[in-house]
Amino acid sequence: MNTAAAFADFRTYPLISALTGVQAMADRVLVKWADQRVSPFHHQWLRDNCPCPQCVYSVTREQVLEIVDVPQNLMPGDTAIDAEGCLRVEWQDGHLSRFDPGWLRAHAYDDESRAERLAGKPKSRLWHSDLTLPVFEYQALMNDHEALLQWLLAVRDTGLTQVRGVPTEPGSLKLIAQRISFIRESNFGVLFNVQSKADADSNAYTAFNLPLHSDLPTRELQPGLQFLHCLVNEAEGGESIFVDGFAIADALRREDPQAFKSLCEIPVEFRNKDRHSDYRCLAPIIALDNLGQVSEIRMANFLRGPFDASVEDMPKLYRAYRRFIAMTREDRFRVVQRLNPGELWCFDNRRTLHARNAFDPATGARHFQGCYVDRDELLSRILVLQR
Ligand code: OGA
Ligand code: ZN
Ligand code: ZN
Repeated sequence: MNTAAAFADFRTYPLISALTGVQAMADRVLVKWADQRVSPFHHQWLRDNCPCPQCVYSVTREQVLEIVDVPQNLMPGDTAIDAEGCLRVEWQDGHLSRFDPGWLRAHAYDDESRAERLAGKPKSRLWHSDLTLPVFEYQALMNDHEALLQWLLAVRDTGLTQVRGVPTEPGSLKLIAQRISFIRESNFGVLFNVQSKADADSNAYTAFNLPLHSDLPTRELQPGLQFLHCLVNEAEGGESIFVDGFAIADALRREDPQAFKSLCEIPVEFRNKDRHSDYRCLAPIIALDNLGQVSEIRMANFLRGPFDASVEDMPKLYRAYRRFIAMTREDRFRVVQRLNPGELWCFDNRRTLHARNAFDPATGARHFQGCYVDRDELLSRILVLQR
């Protein structure tokens, strides 16, 4: 058997530490590594993850085995480290499993290995008004994989980036967004035109100021990334403003834990309606992941429906909502910068809130194009570029 193909994945798993010993127990196997770590693997887990061609289809590298088709009490007959350093398990029913040590170490679930994996997960770098804006060049992103990867990592970890040197022909945005992957279409189109219009179907398409917000909080899944590309910006005003929603949530948690709790727990409805569509989503403004970390901000005052909370919760919700909005107006969090033709913003729409100052259409034209790409596309692209 070829070691390189011995797991159900397209990635490679470097050998971090060699297997030095294996000991059979009643319900698990204890594996010892050269760096002295000991990792238990339950029999069921090993049988479930057997990478042999009977258990995993080699073309898709997806599992065909279902663990319920194996007796719950199946035991290994023999366990050993083979000549290539792989863990070899011969089961009592005669089935043979062989585990690549790099793969096995990457999936070990002893406490130390799990803590190590958790610590190695990408972390959001929180920012404030003194952010050094990550800036990238269009030509490099279009031609060079390494430059593309660096940009995508900045989008993932900082959540706000600027790209310069973008052509100003309408539609150019599509090409760079597609460097990541599929564009997420919405009722506003594949690309949407941000211009002041008489028949506006959103406050975004007026010359009003837009307070700090996320786009499409009216959807169960808010778009992960948002692009705003400047074609023309001759009008007075209209500067872009950004805050790190995670940094504000983090400060709120420390400075006003009660308000933080209310925004995590009391759902708010966001609505977007016109003559042809009617989108509504009821969700809390701050979402936490299963580790209790802030994972998403949902906020657009101009899309909010009337609060519908219990009589007891209503004052708490207003207090928390006012506090959150007041924080988005504090200078310590705000980055203000005018976007020029040929520049674009690309930011994490579920984290970084964006705004614009009012502009005066009488002083000149202003035309931006925008689009969305989901976070899954970004993360997948990063992993493939890193392969
Ligand atoms: C939007 C928006 C910003 C701008 O269209 O949702 O936030 O600068 N536009 O016009
Ligand atoms: Zn198998
Ligand atoms: Zn917007």
